[in-house]
Amino acid sequence: MNDFAVKTVRGAQALTHRAAIVGAGHTRFGALDAGPRTLVRTAVEAAFGSVDKGARGRDVGEAFLATLGFGGHQIGNSAAVLAEEAGIVGVPVTRVENACASGGFALRSAVGALAGGARSLVLVVGLEKMTDVSNARRRYWLGVSGDTEWERLAGLTFAGVYGLIASRYFAEHGDASEALAEVAVKNHENGALNPNAHFQKRVSREQVRAAPRVADPLGLYDCCPVSDGAVALLLAAPDEARKFTDAPVYVDGTGAGTDSLAVQERAWLTRFRATQRAAHEAFRSAGWHRSEVSLLEVHDCFTIAELLALEDLGFAAPGEAGPLTLSGETRRTGRLPVNPDGGLKAKGHPIGATGVSQAYEIFLQLRGEAGHRQVPGAHHALAQNVGGAGATAAVSLFSVG
Ligand code: COA
Repeated sequence: MNDFAVKTVRGAQALTHRAAIVGAGHTRFGALDAGPRTLVRTAVEAAFGSVDKGARGRDVGEAFLATLGFGGHQIGNSAAVLAEEAGIVGVPVTRVENACASGGFALRSAVGALAGGARSLVLVVGLEKMTDVSNARRRYWLGVSGDTEWERLAGLTFAGVYGLIASRYFAEHGDASEALAEVAVKNHENGALNPNAHFQKRVSREQVRAAPRVADPLGLYDCCPVSDGAVALLLAAPDEARKFTDAPVYVDGTGAGTDSLAVQERAWLTRFRATQRAAHEAFRSAGWHRSEVSLLEVHDCFTIAELLALEDLGFAAPGEAGPLTLSGETRRTGRLPVNPDGGLKAKGHPIGATGVSQAYEIFLQLRGEAGHRQVPGAHHALAQNVGGAGATAAVSLFSVG
């Protein structure tokens, strides 16, 4: 496989720490009755229950909570809510808020905390409760993760920003609407096999084409839904991992980056420098190559974002992600499966939970525990988590053995 990655990225300094995921828990994603405390407790209990050789709250030395903090629940100091619901009151908890990339950054923080050497287990939880607020209030909460002066106050939503990005992509590379439809069809097909997905139904190309427009050229099936959910991971230092499980999944490298908040400040609308930077750092820190990757979990908040991800991560040249997608290579059965869990498009996008959920899917896939959606022989995987319209991004690389 070709390596199209940017060779030199300013400011990308590799962190060389590793960590091991030894347990993981996931709630259903969707419009749920459960409140944020129940969601956290359910995910954390499932994570502890998944540790083969057993783990308890008292093994946890530090925790990170990824959440944007929607609506009327604990917007400030929500770290204490996690401590209570996880049964770890007294343990230091840090809330990480980088919009939709909160989960990826929380995972990276956990890897850094383990590198300090003092902690036995580190808990990472991603949480969002989005469906219990009015549309107007939700638009405000989502909107403040983008630029306020030039974008939000001008009435631009995230669907609107990604619609502009898609239009620009079409202008640069030709009409990619068939490739966008294929992303939606593929991810819904994968989501139909995921019992935790918000949408567990297939859609046809015809349904995608006929759907109401949201922000031209994007229609309903080009958009992620508004979802509730929580996900928890338990991480250990690599040399401690086998105390907890015989099947750890290693985080071999992480990378992160930022870009200007307003898209108008950027040199490119169709390239996310934050993703490019994060990928460069992650591959440098892991010390392995793109050709080894068996599957990708990428941030397809809108279908155009999956094409940008493939290009920014170095798996396709600019303008080539569409043909790659249409060739079937990114299907679960293809050479480079992308979003086998249904992605944000079908699995859902509870903001703070998303990056943690990507790592959860990789944990299952690399252990061979993903059931009907298992990618045979998966051994190395990449997760890319983007904040807003590309202003923040985190990339993590995983392997078994
Ligand atoms: N994909 C597929 N179907 C969807 C959907 C989506 N993204 N969103 C809603 N639906 C379905 C619902 O299940 C419902 O189906 P039903 O009539 O069979 O029950 C129907 O469409 C209407 O649902 P509703 O909730 O009224 O839709 P809406 O028009 O209020 O919202 C969007 C649709 C696309 C505007 C909304 O999902 C959205 O804002 N998504 C983007 C969220 C976002 O910006 N996140 C941050 C990304 S950076």
